Amino acid sequence: MSKPPCASVPPATPSPPVPPPPGTLICTLAELPGSGGRVFSFGEGQQTFRIIVLAHNGQIQAWHNCCPHFGAPLAEKDEWLILKPGNSFSCNVHYARFRWDDGVCEAGDCEGDQLAGIAIKIRDGQVFFG
Ligand code: FES
Repeated sequence: MSKPPCASVPPATPSPPVPPPPGTLICTLAELPGSGGRVFSFGEGQQTFRIIVLAHNGQIQAWHNCCPHFGAPLAEKDEWLILKPGNSFSCNVHYARFRWDDGVCEAGDCEGDQLAGIAIKIRDGQVFFG
């Protein structure tokens, strides 16, 4: 069975959402927790591109918010994120658990698969697509 691209509604076409161009502002560092994560969405409808931004010990990283198991967002709202900062984060659909440092699924239906990393740049207290 093919996996649908991550969007809030089932896709009408197989084309996955496209990330915003490099330089697009994601958030400010002040909007991120000291240790935890947030979700951000870009675009609308079937072309919504979702990311998760994780912060811990001064390290910021971003992942495509698209579970390799079924193509659903790991979480659509910040309050739905399942996190153990510095250790793991999980999909709130079927609970696949991903390693914090490299986004590889360590337990769940997509074990061994890796989330797509999102290149970021941090400049003047702001986080951008890289
Ligand atoms: S959709 Fe994420 S674990 Fe199934």
